[in-house]
Amino acid sequence: DNQRFFSAELLRWYRKERRDLPWRRSRDPYHIWVSEIMLQQTRVDTVIPYFHRFVDRFPTLSQLAEAPEDEVLKHWEGLGYYSRARNLQSAAREVVERYGGEVPRTKQEVSGLKGVGPYTTGAILSIAFDQPEPAVDGNVMRVLSRYFCLDDDIARPSTRISMEDRAQALIPEGEASDFNQALMELGAMVCTPKSPDCPACPVSLHCEGRHQGRERELPVKTKA
Ligand code: ADE
Repeated sequence: DNQRFFSAELLRWYRKERRDLPWRRSRDPYHIWVSEIMLQQTRVDTVIPYFHRFVDRFPTLSQLAEAPEDEVLKHWEGLGYYSRARNLQSAAREVVERYGGEVPRTKQEVSGLKGVGPYTTGAILSIAFDQPEPAVDGNVMRVLSRYFCLDDDIARPSTRISMEDRAQALIPEGEASDFNQALMELGAMVCTPKSPDCPACPVSLHCEGRHQGRERELPVKTKA
């Protein structure tokens, strides 16, 4: 069916085309976490050098927890949205105090950390621990709304929730890490907002949005 096709072809494509990004060389949940926080409001190309400097200076979560705040902020300088850095350090301190310095592995614990929303929770659990949790951000909602031709308003919380359910159902057994990153990668490299490159897309054959000629209208989003 269309769901199985999607998952299988997307994974196959990702394994061939994936960019070699520094955080993809690591399974350290702390490194994954840092990368996901940096990537929230910042482009991949910008993040790369910051990620290297940050994990060079604070290689472990405990070292981040122990560092002076101004030094953490200094390593964030130029990335903007400094509350991300402050929250990351508070959360690192919380992990040291409550979980002995190990990033916890349950949804409830991870989502309780400062600055960690539903997307980041799913990204950490799936990418670092291969747990079958969805990681749905704007890129992923765009891909899914086009493939399934869904015109629900993605600004609505109920739409995000139904997208999370769909995204979770698509995860092939044991492949959560690669699959979720493949979805992000497709949204970043092929299924882009203004000019999706459908000829390069591994799943265009069964993309309902494209069949209906509506790929450029989707996703529907009311408020900015
Ligand atoms: N954007 C958000 N998370 C990402 C990741 N892990 N790789 C590339 N781009 C991303």
